[in-house]
Amino acid sequence: MTIDFNAKENRHTYLGREAQQEWYDIIHNLIDPAGKDIADIGCGGGIYSRAWVNLGAKSVTCVDFSDQMLADATENTQGLPNITLKKGDALHTDLPENSQDIIFERALIHHINEEDRILCFGEAYRLLRSGGMYILQDRTVQDINLPGSPEHIRGYIFDVYPHLRNIETQRRPDTHKVINGFKEVGFNHVKTFSFLEKRTTYNDFSQLADDFQMRKGRSILHELNDKEIAYLIDHIEMSLPSLTNIVENDYWTIWTGIK
Ligand SMILES: C[S@@+](CC[C@H](N)C(=O)[O-])C[C@H]1O[C@@H](n2cnc3c(N)ncnc32)[C@H](O)[C@@H]1O
Repeated sequence: MTIDFNAKENRHTYLGREAQQEWYDIIHNLIDPAGKDIADIGCGGGIYSRAWVNLGAKSVTCVDFSDQMLADATENTQGLPNITLKKGDALHTDLPENSQDIIFERALIHHINEEDRILCFGEAYRLLRSGGMYILQDRTVQDINLPGSPEHIRGYIFDVYPHLRNIETQRRPDTHKVINGFKEVGFNHVKTFSFLEKRTTYNDFSQLADDFQMRKGRSILHELNDKEIAYLIDHIEMSLPSLTNIVENDYWTIWTGIK
């Protein structure tokens, strides 16, 4: 079953961890966010909205179409300066045009139908000031298909349940289509690259098991029932060389374009 971002039981799904140094390093290589107006669209629990504040953003506008996710983002960004939360659809946010220096969308477009993605790119273009940067971060089929290993724990999901690859193949973005879509709506200097983002470190295996059991931050696990997840957790436990200080990394692709 597809994840319901509005369901109470999915509260805190995209909360409870911090952006890691690898992500900050990647962003710093792209742009200096200090003093910039930034919209984090599809913000979820605001993990990266917080990170943009840490990077010195002048303002961060967190947009999501789910009341539940916005409630989580409100909780997560409490007390931070210059944060605005807004309910809105990535395809038509209702934010003013030419109002942002950076549009950031992480793990959003695989939840948007392929035929609508061009509207999402066009909306990002509309919101940006001239010279502003669109930063899109998602996983391609190639990122997903990397096998399970202690360095790539997410890969075990598909080793154990290969049929889930079909779902990913249908929803994950094709890099050439993204590049062409960026160009079609007007972006220049379109670039793409892959990187390994550290997701988190688990002090012991029970923390990792809880994360998987609660399907935290992994919408594909909503396709499995509790028994299937328990079997997957057993498989991961047997595959890891050590059950303490487990580092989880994920492979990602980033696309950037300049207005
Ligand atoms: C996988 S979560 C990613 C959350 C956050 N960006 C992160 O990386 O931690 C996807 C988020 O996009 C939101 N979302 C999905 N489709 C959307 C749309 N069309 N407009 C706005 N938000 C959307 C969901 O509610 C959810 O919060």
